[in-house]
Formats: sequence, C-alpha cells, structure tokens
Amino acid sequence: MLLAIPDVLTAEQVLRARQIFENAEWVDGRVTAGHQSVRAKNNMQLPEGSPAAREVGAVVLAALEQNPLFISAALPARVFPPLFNRYQGGQLFGTHVDNAIRQVTGTTHRIRTDLSATLFFTGPEEYDGGELVVEDTYGTHQVKLPAGHMILYPATSLHHVRPVTRGARIASFFWIQSMIRDDGQRTLLFDLDVAIQRINSERADHPVSVQLTGVYHNLLRRWADV
Ligand code: NI
Repeated sequence: MLLAIPDVLTAEQVLRARQIFENAEWVDGRVTAGHQSVRAKNNMQLPEGSPAAREVGAVVLAALEQNPLFISAALPARVFPPLFNRYQGGQLFGTHVDNAIRQVTGTTHRIRTDLSATLFFTGPEEYDGGELVVEDTYGTHQVKLPAGHMILYPATSLHHVRPVTRGARIASFFWIQSMIRDDGQRTLLFDLDVAIQRINSERADHPVSVQLTGVYHNLLRRWADV
C-alpha cells in the first residue's frame, strides 16, 4: 500500500526546520548507503545523530505519535530515527531497494524495515524533478507532495528519486518496523479500520460497529508481533 499522509507537520514546524537546515552542515549521502545502493546514490545528508537531525527528528517523531492515520496505516512497533537529505544541481538516487535490517547508529537496536517513509520539507513549486518513483505490483507511482506531507510505502518495493534540475528538494526519510510484518495483512487491517471509523462517524451507536471492532482486534491479536 502506498499512502499519502497530509499535514504531518504544520507550516510553522516546516519553517522552523528549514531554518535549522540552513545553518546545518550537510555531508555526502553515501555515508548511510548500503552495499548495493552506494553506486546509485548522489545527494547530501545531515549526519546521523547531528544536533540538527536530532532536533527536527524529535519533532517528526512526536508528530507521528499523534497522527491517527499514520498509526492506523503503519501499526508501528519501532520507528528509525529520521534522517534528512537534500538534492539539488541534478542530484538523484537511482533504482534501489532499502536494506531489510537497519541498526540504529551508536546503539544495539535493530529495526526490520517493513515500511519506508518520506516526509517533504520543500514544496513541489520550489524544485523541478525530484519525484519519488515507487514500483509495486500495481505499477509505477510518482510522488511529489506539499511540504509537511508524507508518503508511506512498502520497503520491499524498488524505488528511485529523479534528478532535481532546479531548486532543492529537502526531505526526511526513515523506516518503520510494523507490528504487522506482511503488507497485505496490514492493508486489510487498515481498510477495516477505515470502514469502522466511517460507520462510527455516520452513526455512533451502530451495533455492528462493536462487532467489527472485535474482528479488528482479533485479527490484530492473531497477526501482531509486539
Ligand atoms: Ni530508498
């Protein structure tokens, strides 16, 4: 499932983050690339664990904890500390697949990357190119969202970022280990949750809502690793 999550950050949070980015030191993005992706990657990154990455990363994580759409779609068990990248002057990231397991630098924590996320800090009007292109079983999807919005997609998919030919594209990227490893099962739970919420919003006391909520939780109990 490919899902756009609008307004993860407010305009003020985006603005504040961009001020921090402007004063931060950026390094070659190949520092976090795996074996196979190192040849495909050409961008800049904030160093992992740098003060700027930590400060904005904490804002992103706090926003996600309060975002019902993110929680419902990702069913997160663990979220990798957000990383930040910048593409400009023709920079791109060729077709690759994200590493299945990521170790959080400086810790013994490991995350299985079930979902990948890209949160945009620059708007589509500020740069040309820079589309995130995701290939899944339903075809190829091009993604370029307003600042503050985020795309969530299965980390199993091949993807690339097209060259940025004007302006700069700044984004945060990170991974989520979900309580539900399988994308198909996770998508079913999300669809069921959306349907239950729709019933609740149309008629709060509908008796079928309790039954369906029971089904939701029993599927979650059956499938979840916590
Ligand atoms: Ni990637």
